[in-house]
Order: sequence, then structure tokens, then C-alpha cells
Amino acid sequence: MKRIVTSTLLVAAVAAIPTVAFSLTDAEKAAAAASWSTHCVRCHTLDGSGSSTLGQKLKLKDYTKAEAQASFTDEEALKAIKEGVTNSAGKKVMSPYAEKLSDQESKDLVAFIRTLKK
Ligand code: HEC
Repeated sequence: MKRIVTSTLLVAAVAAIPTVAFSLTDAEKAAAAASWSTHCVRCHTLDGSGSSTLGQKLKLKDYTKAEAQASFTDEEALKAIKEGVTNSAGKKVMSPYAEKLSDQESKDLVAFIRTLKK
């Protein structure tokens, strides 16, 4: 009987875990924050709101907002970081980072972006 209760609790616990593809330890979060500062803040700003003059010109999404966070999957964000972003007019608006950042660093940045939501 005890075994049945334990396994039922385990199933419930696993089901309660949200489907987040990438996650961060404290050390990884610090490293990702440093990488964000080095490579991304110029456009996306420190808080991820993209509220600078350049950010507004680029029409950046505001990552502090839930709607912006919901508008892309982790996979789409990873692809954007690795391959860069081209706008609807065919202009490259964000450079690819596949050669500057490792796969893990890019994944950690995706997880970091998720922490910017207020
Ligand atoms: C030259 C300015 C610039 C820099 C630097 C930059 N980005 Fe971007 N980024 C953009 C623009 C422009 C877009 C497209 C508009 C948008 O999605 O907000 C974009 C889009 C994205 C997206 C896609 C979001 C979606 O909706 O699919 C992600 C994720 C992203 N950037 C992350 C980063 C990360 C991480 C870095 C640093 C490694 C970075 N960006 C550096 C300008 C920049």
C-alpha cells in the first residue's frame, strides 16, 4: 500500500513540473547575465525591455511582458540567437551568434530571457 501511495505522489509531482525546456543553476544564470551584457544589451537593454532609442527603432519586443514572452517558444528563441533574425523586408536585424556562443551558452541565454519577465 505504501508503495502505491508513493508512486501516485511521484506521478503527481512529475505532472506538476512546468514544461520548461531549458533551466539555469545560479552559476549558469550569472554567466548568462554576463553574456547578455556583453552581446545583447546594446539592443535589447539590460532589463530586456528594449526601451532604448535603438531598441524602439528596431521595434524590439519587451521581454518584461508576458505577451512578448508568450510570442515565441524556447526553440524559436534558440534559433534566433544561433541564426540571427531577418525582418519582413529581408533585412538582417540581428546577427547570428552560432560562432560566438556555444550551444549551451545560447540555451542558457534563452532560459535567462525567461527570467526577465516581470
Ligand atoms: C543589433 C541589435 C541586436 C542585438 C545585439 C541582439 N539582438 Fe536579438 N533581436 C534584435 C531584433 C531587431 C530582433 C527582432 C525583433 C524582436 O523580436 O524583438 C531580435 C530578436 C531576438 C529574439 C527572437 C524573439 C522572437 O520573437 O522570436 C531573441 C530570442 C533575441 N533577439 C535574443 C538576443 C540575444 C540573446 C542576444 C545576444 C546574444 C541578442 N538578441 C542580440 C536585435 C538585436
